[in-house]
Amino acid sequence: MALKRIAPSVLAADFANLQRDVEMINKSEADWFHIDIMDGVFVPNISFGMPVLRDIVKHATKTIDVHLMIVDPDRYIKTFADLGSNILTVHYEACTHLHRTLQAIKAEGMKAGVAINPHTNVSLLEDVINDIDLVCIMSVNPGFGGQSFIENTYKKVKQLREIIVKNNASTLIEIDGGVTNKNAKQLIDAGADVLVAGSFVFKSTNPNQTIKELKEIINT
Ligand code: DX5
Ligand code: ZN
Repeated sequence: MALKRIAPSVLAADFANLQRDVEMINKSEADWFHIDIMDGVFVPNISFGMPVLRDIVKHATKTIDVHLMIVDPDRYIKTFADLGSNILTVHYEACTHLHRTLQAIKAEGMKAGVAINPHTNVSLLEDVINDIDLVCIMSVNPGFGGQSFIENTYKKVKQLREIIVKNNASTLIEIDGGVTNKNAKQLIDAGADVLVAGSFVFKSTNPNQTIKELKEIINT
């Protein structure tokens, strides 16, 4: 069984000490950098944009997992590829022609991800599951870090795992929002592959140690 991954969310980092926090992730047992891009339209918050991502990529030594919470993401696929994104995740709710968007992401050499809001049923992805490298199940309403985990997520993970197995797909399941040491194991047992963790990592007294603990929890 492949090792389960932790993707610290840079949204919870100290932006005045961004290089320090990027180096912390580099040196830690974390697997990916999770980067939240918000436009203030698709979600009621604005995070950061291209210049900040460019500087993160300059220092980061691990996979760059970009989560776009923006309307009309097709406009920016090439931009994010050029900036160095390895995985580009768009929201199901923001894509009128999702199949086309997924192909466009792959044509730029990135892995294609689809995020779904808490109200979106995983079954809506079945017809494109073989085209999706990663499904990001939102376990909070997107827009802010530090919210509490929605318990219905476990059920969604199990349902999605069934769809993936049934279609013989190799899609990874990522969970985003409210992940802590209290729900990490249960999420993995339900079928998750990657856990995003923002506040739980960065608000802890020793982020490096917190990442190590999460990795232990999900891989034992
Ligand atoms: C929420 C973002 C998440 C967020 C997670 O819209 O997509 O990635 O940073 O933060 P925590 O772990 O604090 O819920
Ligand atoms: Zn995210």
